[in-house]
Amino acid sequence: MMNQPVELAPNAWAPGGKPDPLGRHKHGLIGASVSRIDGPLKVRGMAAFAAEFPLEGMTYAALVFSTLPSGRIATIDTREAEAAPGVVLVMTHRNAPRMQPMPLFLTAEKAAGGDNLPIMQDENIHWNGQPVALVLAETQEQADHARSLIRVTYEAAPSITAFDKARQGGTEPGMFMGQPLKLVINDAEAALAAAPVKVDALYRTPRHNHNAIEPHAATVAWQGDELVVHDASQAVAHTAWSLSHVFGLAEKQVHVTSPFVGGGFGSKTLWQHQVLGAAAAKLAGRPVRIALSREGVYRLIGGRTLTEQRVAIGARRDGRFDAIIHTGTVAMSRHNALPEPFILPTRGAYAAGSFGLDVEVAYLDMLANTFMRAPGESVGTFALECAVDELAVKLGIDPIELRIRNEPDKDPVEGKPFSSRNIVAAWRAGADRFGWSKRTPSPGSVRDGEWLVGMGCATGTYPYYRMPGGAARITLTKDGRAKVEIAAHEMGMGTATAQTQVIAERLGLTLDQVNFAYGDSSFPGLVLAGGSQQTASIGASVVAAQHALVAELLRLAGNASPLAGLTADAVGGLDGGLAALSDPARRESYVSILARAGHEQVVAVAGAPPPDEQLHWSMHSHGAMFCEMGVNAVTGETRVRRFLGSFDCGRILNAKTAASQFRGGIIMGLGLALMEETQFDERTGRVMNASLSEYHVPVHMDVPEIDVIWTDIPDPHTPMGARGIGEIGITGTAAAVANAIFNATGKRIRDLPLTPDRLM
Ligand code: MOS
Repeated sequence: MMNQPVELAPNAWAPGGKPDPLGRHKHGLIGASVSRIDGPLKVRGMAAFAAEFPLEGMTYAALVFSTLPSGRIATIDTREAEAAPGVVLVMTHRNAPRMQPMPLFLTAEKAAGGDNLPIMQDENIHWNGQPVALVLAETQEQADHARSLIRVTYEAAPSITAFDKARQGGTEPGMFMGQPLKLVINDAEAALAAAPVKVDALYRTPRHNHNAIEPHAATVAWQGDELVVHDASQAVAHTAWSLSHVFGLAEKQVHVTSPFVGGGFGSKTLWQHQVLGAAAAKLAGRPVRIALSREGVYRLIGGRTLTEQRVAIGARRDGRFDAIIHTGTVAMSRHNALPEPFILPTRGAYAAGSFGLDVEVAYLDMLANTFMRAPGESVGTFALECAVDELAVKLGIDPIELRIRNEPDKDPVEGKPFSSRNIVAAWRAGADRFGWSKRTPSPGSVRDGEWLVGMGCATGTYPYYRMPGGAARITLTKDGRAKVEIAAHEMGMGTATAQTQVIAERLGLTLDQVNFAYGDSSFPGLVLAGGSQQTASIGASVVAAQHALVAELLRLAGNASPLAGLTADAVGGLDGGLAALSDPARRESYVSILARAGHEQVVAVAGAPPPDEQLHWSMHSHGAMFCEMGVNAVTGETRVRRFLGSFDCGRILNAKTAASQFRGGIIMGLGLALMEETQFDERTGRVMNASLSEYHVPVHMDVPEIDVIWTDIPDPHTPMGARGIGEIGITGTAAAVANAIFNATGKRIRDLPLTPDRLM
C-alpha cells in the first residue's frame, strides 16, 4: 500500500473545520493492537511509583485519625510517641506550619483539593477519620508503632451523621461545576399523570469507597525554596498550583511528578496527605514518604456518596415517552463540591415531551465526597435504565426496541445536533452477537439446575469533554526522533501507548522514534486525566504543536528543499519527514532538513484551541450493555454468566488497550451492581469496613468472559475522531445486571448492591 502523508488537522473541530484526518486513517498505527510500552518496565518492577522514589535522608509518615465526627481535640499527648525508637517528630495542630485550605477541585481552573477545610490548623474535628497527628520516623514500622502511642481525647459537638436526619433538616439544590443540577422542560408531572402507561419508582445506591490497586502515596522534599512532590496523580499541573496556594508559594516553586499511577478513578487528586507530608517535611527539614494504608484511604480520601433517586416515565401505548422525571437526594459535607450528579445521563439519553430533573443535597458531618468513575452516570443509569426496563415490561415491548423508539434526533434538552450518535447500530450489533433473540421475555422461565437464568440490557452513556488548557512541546532532533512533552498522566489506561501511536502517525514516524513524556507539572499543558477527556486534550495539543513545528521546519527547509513554496497546510508527516499532500513524492526527511539548516533540534510549543466543539454539538460516548445472570433459586447466590458491551465511542485508537478499558469499566460496574458498599455507621459517621477484606470488589471468580465490540465510526468533531472510553464501561452495567436478575427471577430489586439476602 502506498503511504499518504498525514494531513495537518484543523485547529478547531467547530463548524467549518475539517474532520481530523487521523480519524479516517485506516492503515498505519491508529487502531492497532499495540501492547503497552510501559508493560515491560512494570512487570520487571522498574517503574517507580509515588512511594518508590529513594531520597537521601528519607523519613516515613504515619497518621492518627479522629474517632468522632464533630467536636474538638480536648487533649493530645504525644510524649510517649516522641520518645519511641526512631521518631523524628510528631506534628499536630500545635506545631504544624500555617497553611491555607486547598482550593476545591473543579471550582477554579487549576483547583485540585478534595476539601477546603483547615488542615491540622486547629483543634476542630469535621469528620470521623480526620487526621489529627502525624508521626515521622526513620522507618515506616517505627512510625506505625509510634502512632499507636499517641493519646487523644475529644469533646464531642452535636453532629449529623444519619441521612434521614440530615434530610429532615431540609435539602439544598445541588451544583455541579458551577451549574445547577436542575432542569425543567414543560410540565413533566402533568404529562406523567396523563400518560396511559407509566412507571414511578425509588432506587437507592449506597456509598462507595475508592480502592485503586496502588493506595495513595507521595514522596515529598523541599529543595531550597522548591517543593518537590512525587505523587500518584491524575492532575499534576492542578496539584502543583493548588499546593502553591496552600503554602503561599509561586506556582513555579512546586514541582509535581507522577510517572506511573496504579489506578485513579477520580480519587487521585489533592487530598490532605500530600499537604501534611509537605508540612512535615518542612518541619523536619528532611524528605518524607507518606503512603496511606488501605484503611488510610478510606479515612482520608473521599468516595461516591449515596443516592436516593426517583425515576418516573410516562409513555404512550406505542412506547414513546411523554415525561421523564429523575429527581432525588444525595449526602454531602459542607466542605465539598461534588453532589453525585445522577441526572446527567438523563439529559441526553431519550427524546421526551417533558423533563423534570433535580438533585438535592442533604448535608452531613462526614468526609468529602469525590469523583468516582462516571460520577453521576454510573448510578444515574442504574435508576434510569431499570425504570426503562420496568416500563418495557408494562408495555410488553422488547426493551431494546423501546429504547430505539425513543432515540432522539437531536439533543433532547439543549436542541443541539449530535456530533455523532450510532447507539442504534451498537444495539443491533450487540443484540446479534449476544443472541438476544433467544431471550424469553417472561421472567423466571429459564432454569439450569438450581439456577434461574435471565438476560438483561441497558444503555450506557458518558459525555465527551475536552477541557481548556491543553498544550504540548515537540522537540525534533537531528536524528529524526521526536520527544513530545505534556503534563498528562498514565494511570494504567494505556495513555502512553495510544498517544505514542497518535504522535507517530501524525508526524510520520515509527513508534520507536517517538518518546511521549508525561506525568510532570513542569511540562506544558493543564491536562486532567479525568472526565474521560485526556485523550482529546492531548490529541488537540499535539495537533497545535505539530502545526507550529511544521511551519518552523518549512522555514528552515528554505528554497533548496523539494518542499519550497508549500505552506504548512499543504504538507503532512510521512516516512520520517514532511511530504506534499498533493504529491507525496515531493518530500524531505526531518534528518535532511535539520542537517542542511545546521540545527541540533527544533522545538515547537503550542496550546490547543478552546473546546468550541462542545458548544456546537451534543457529544457523548454510548454503550449497549448485555448481561446474562444466574441466580441460585435456593441460596440467592448470583453469577454473571456472560457480559457484552457494544460501544459507540468514535474512532478507537488502540484496540488492545481500549478493550481493556471497556472491560475494566464493566468489572467495576459489576462490583457496583453486586457487592460494593461502604458500611457507614450512621450513629458515629465511622466507615466500618475500611479494608478489602470487608469491602467487597469483584475478584477473578466473580468475572466471566467479557466480550466487547465497537462501531469504530469516527466522530468528525473530535481530535482523531475519538471520544472518551475511560468511564463508559461502568455506565449501564449495574442496570443490565439488575434487569437480567429480574428476567431470571421476576424480582425487581431497586436497591444496590444486589446481594443474595435481597434475592432469597
Ligand atoms: Mo474520573 S471520576 O473523571 O477520574
